[in-house]
Amino acid sequence: AVGTEVDFVLFGALGDLSQRKLYPALYQLDRENLLAKGTRLLGAGRQEVDLEGFRSRVEAALKEYVDAEELDRSVLKRFLARLDYRCVDATQPEGYAGIREWRQDAGERPMVVYLAVGASLYGDICRYLQESGSLDEHSRVVVEKPIGYDLESSAEINDAIGAVFPESRIYRIDHYLGKETVQNLIALRFANPLFGTQWNQNHISHVEITVAEKVGIEGRWGYFDQAGQLRDMVQNHLLQLVCLIAMDPPANLDADAIRDEKVKVLKALKPFTDDMLGRDVVRGQYIAGTSDGVRVPGYLEEPDANTESHTETFVAMKTEVANWRWAGVPFYLRTGKRMPEKLSQIVIHFRQQPHYIFDPDQRALAANKLVIRLQPDEGIALQVLTKDSGLDKGMRLRPGPLHLDFHSAFAKTRIPDAYERLLLEVMKGQQYLFVRRDEVEHAWQWCDSLINAWQSREELPRRYPAGSWGPVASIAMITQDGRSWYEDY
Ligand code: BG6
Repeated sequence: AVGTEVDFVLFGALGDLSQRKLYPALYQLDRENLLAKGTRLLGAGRQEVDLEGFRSRVEAALKEYVDAEELDRSVLKRFLARLDYRCVDATQPEGYAGIREWRQDAGERPMVVYLAVGASLYGDICRYLQESGSLDEHSRVVVEKPIGYDLESSAEINDAIGAVFPESRIYRIDHYLGKETVQNLIALRFANPLFGTQWNQNHISHVEITVAEKVGIEGRWGYFDQAGQLRDMVQNHLLQLVCLIAMDPPANLDADAIRDEKVKVLKALKPFTDDMLGRDVVRGQYIAGTSDGVRVPGYLEEPDANTESHTETFVAMKTEVANWRWAGVPFYLRTGKRMPEKLSQIVIHFRQQPHYIFDPDQRALAANKLVIRLQPDEGIALQVLTKDSGLDKGMRLRPGPLHLDFHSAFAKTRIPDAYERLLLEVMKGQQYLFVRRDEVEHAWQWCDSLINAWQSREELPRRYPAGSWGPVASIAMITQDGRSWYEDY
């Protein structure tokens, strides 16, 4: 096996994220021989379970979340043997001695503490780890979003983590940065002069980002209702996509070179004002409808729902990166739960030719589009125009894709889950796929401008039936500019 040996300490070891994402990702790394021989994992959780009990819980999670044909008995055995467990109440100092003891024979192995728990616990955990003497100058901490609820609360949490760990050892996860196609944005933009030279307001008319989810709230009502789609998805995932599309070329691939450029984009985002509501921003909440032909309840009818809630499950917005490269180029973003399909896609719309010589009826076709499909069916398609074939067609144009489908182009390679890559980078001590404190804070600052506008206008969400593309107002938002959401891949 390659890679450096590390000691993982996982808080929230019996929680949902660990079961669904972290154990499967670590198992896959083990299967790919990317976990060093001595790498071990200590689960920490509130529940009293013995080691056998813990291992069988992890095994059950792997059986549920890893494809059966990827479950190899000998890898499974090796993986389970790496595990250990301690019962720790994160809010009380006592349990932390167990972690220090576990680390006693760690030698040179750095410790990676992964906090798969609510952000309100981050401060306590970091402090007690330090006070118990469990940390050293190589220890790293990995934290999940959402960091806070607004700029102020995120600053408090970041201060608490920062009181124990320096920024160079804090790894803030945005799992979108671990997705293969998201990383490809960097390759696409900065390895291909064809795109590099066109990537600005002279050549691009507008940009669309859709992150549609088919699922509803999936039993997470309690968390989600406090957050809403803006805080849960836009503040992090969608803004990271905006950054990767809009940023200037970094001087190199170092973490800070990339993150410096991303921060400049976030700083240049136009803040929201009250008069933009309804016109440039649309909030939505789903009501009952159908998903895959099956009747599904509305947001307010989900289990545990507060039937008075005004939390949004959908948001569409038009924004602008107000700088030299992007001035005047709208970025249309939309994301929602209970859409007709799971689809994450970026469409770059290029400007039309300065002088058009073909059939005037076809004028609307006459612009190239670059469609970057993040999921499902990862791929990139450039829509180009060719002459329609046939003797009777004259110079009629026909749009068609130059299409790169990742699955068929690179048939033999499995597309790894985002968490596999992110965990690997943490083990290597590389931060370029993680979010720096100032990124989080500038993203909050911009979101806060919208939240404040919503609050001051008491803007209620508009209804949309489950299984639709959101409130009609979100369609009107883009058609008022003579454009439409792009759906054809
Ligand atoms: C998470 C959000 O960060 O991302 C969830 O909290 C959302 O609400 C999920 O469903 C979407 O991730 P993915 O990888 O399925 O697009």
